Amino acid sequence: MRGAEAELSLVRFLGKRMVRKERKAKAYREMELDLKIRLERTRREARLLHKAKAAGISAPTVYAVDDYSITMEYVRGRKLREDEMELREAGRLLASLHNAGIIHGDFTPYNIIVDGNGLHAIDFGLGFFSTRVEDKADDLITMLRAIRGKESFLSGYRECADFDAVLRRKVQIERRARYQ
Ligand SMILES: Nc1ncnc2c1ncn2[C@@H]1O[C@H](COP(=O)(O)OP(=O)(O)OP(=O)(O)O)[C@@H](O)[C@H]1O
Ligand SMILES: [Mg+2]
Repeated sequence: MRGAEAELSLVRFLGKRMVRKERKAKAYREMELDLKIRLERTRREARLLHKAKAAGISAPTVYAVDDYSITMEYVRGRKLREDEMELREAGRLLASLHNAGIIHGDFTPYNIIVDGNGLHAIDFGLGFFSTRVEDKADDLITMLRAIRGKESFLSGYRECADFDAVLRRKVQIERRARYQ
């Protein structure tokens, strides 16, 4: 397993199969900055995974964290299938994150794992805490750009408490981008 940014490996920890996500040095980044970015994203991700779980959202349980790596629950599953039902579930998942004050930062089908229990959110390295409509709209735009079944997704995202305001802001953001 190798993401764009981190290296993932299956490990045995506390007698269980787990995933270790390690952010390795990037040669193209100046060293001090590179250390800072990796540390920051690792901390962010661990904190958000924890908060998401505490809010009742399914995400891998974190078992250990050090400066540049997280050891977490292995979720055996597959990538999101983009049919109506799964897209609606994905919309509900983003709504529950937003209702908990969590902005994912990179919510796309690649960062959702589906298993027998449903959908699980992963990859929170670019996430942050915010209740701002603008941040929710940015998150929504990222996902809608990545999928075809936008209406199915939105039918699940309706569960977001700020649904109408977020949708209005999305239109504004897109309008702004067009006239730039
Ligand atoms: N807890 C987990 N259990 C099972 N598989 C996982 C887990 N975490 C990550 N993966 C797998 O590893 C891939 C990369 O992980 P992740 O998305 O967290 O890293 P990344 O480097 O930020 O990836 P990218 O930026 O390319 O999306 C995921 O798309 C998923 O397939
Ligand atoms: Mg990813």
